[in-house]
Amino acid sequence: MAEFVASAPFGLEGIAARELRGLGLREASAINGGAAFSGGGLDAARANVNLRCADRIRMVVGRFGATTFDQLFEGTKALPWLDLLPRDARIPVSGKCVRAQLMSVSDCQSIVKKAIVDKLRQRAATVPETGASFPVEVSVRGGEAVITLDTSGDALHRRGYRTWNGEAPLRETLAAALVHLSDWRPGAPLRDPMCGSGTIPLEAALIAQRRAPGLSRAFISESWPGWRDYYAQARSEASERIRADNLSNISGSDIDSGALELARRHARQAGLAESVSFHNQNASNLTIPGPSGAFICNPPYGVRLGGDREAEQAIRLLRGLRDRHPGWSITALNAHPGFERVFGEKADRKPRVYNGRLECAVYTYRARA
Ligand SMILES: C[S@@+](CC[C@H](N)C(=O)[O-])C[C@H]1O[C@@H](n2cnc3c(N)ncnc32)[C@H](O)[C@@H]1O
Repeated sequence: MAEFVASAPFGLEGIAARELRGLGLREASAINGGAAFSGGGLDAARANVNLRCADRIRMVVGRFGATTFDQLFEGTKALPWLDLLPRDARIPVSGKCVRAQLMSVSDCQSIVKKAIVDKLRQRAATVPETGASFPVEVSVRGGEAVITLDTSGDALHRRGYRTWNGEAPLRETLAAALVHLSDWRPGAPLRDPMCGSGTIPLEAALIAQRRAPGLSRAFISESWPGWRDYYAQARSEASERIRADNLSNISGSDIDSGALELARRHARQAGLAESVSFHNQNASNLTIPGPSGAFICNPPYGVRLGGDREAEQAIRLLRGLRDRHPGWSITALNAHPGFERVFGEKADRKPRVYNGRLECAVYTYRARA
């Protein structure tokens, strides 16, 4: 058994903890910066394959007091590296220091590296670093050092279906969180009226199909001794959970034909081309007949696309959508501090989240009819 942390952006820690509990890790709980759980390699593999809203899964190798470089060296060296690392392990070390006496990140990194190599030399005179990679992170916060191993490799938002040239794309992890935070439930219609490269409808479709987001990508810990079998089991369990019959009416629309082309390409790459439709349609005159559902979107806002004027124009478009669709709920990620004033209505819920470094809120308006 080991201690793991599923790191998650501010605002998504509770969702990450809930996802872990859904995997049977009943003790998982939200902490600062993510969700903590204890388990073995198979649990870490399951978390990597299945979590939709976390950034990466780290194994905590140890934590100890460190206000001097000597303490950092001795504390690191005392950890069970001989059990964890094979003889040829590659050991890249990254670091961060927050409100700590040990302020130099690069010094902390090299001291931790030296301590690990010193320990491994008790087993063999040379440490060739030619084998599997075991990325170590040293995080010094106040007077405490926490040493972790990254089990994910590429961050978990990299599901493998996205081509990285969309304008202001939304991270897949945050798109999945918007779907979780909305009133939409699989089976009901969902439309992203400003869908850009299509991340929200695609993440919703994966959720509707119960398709694990990490099924078709690799994880760095797959090459660790014994871990290949954990991933084989985690993937086979996840494949058994897929339900192909639950895609009602999930769609996106946008006025940018280049973005729509990208959205369709992402749908193909995600194996969802038959299930999710994308339309060239201005949100200003969008009207969707038939059963009610949920609008979920991240309209243009803040520093990345346009300025306040464009942001406010988009919020007014959402107002129009609400007036024309009283039976639909609306969920919008937005950084505009005056969102509710411009929209002309107080949101029913508005949890705060970060989109990168930008503080936003997820405004949800329940259906009225
Ligand atoms: C922040 S981006 C959305 C990014 C998207 N969530 C993604 O995953 O790539 C905002 C989108 O709103 C679209 N947009 C702006 N005004 C629009 C309008 N009147 N009708 C439809 N789409 C609009 C833009 O073309 C842009 O693609």
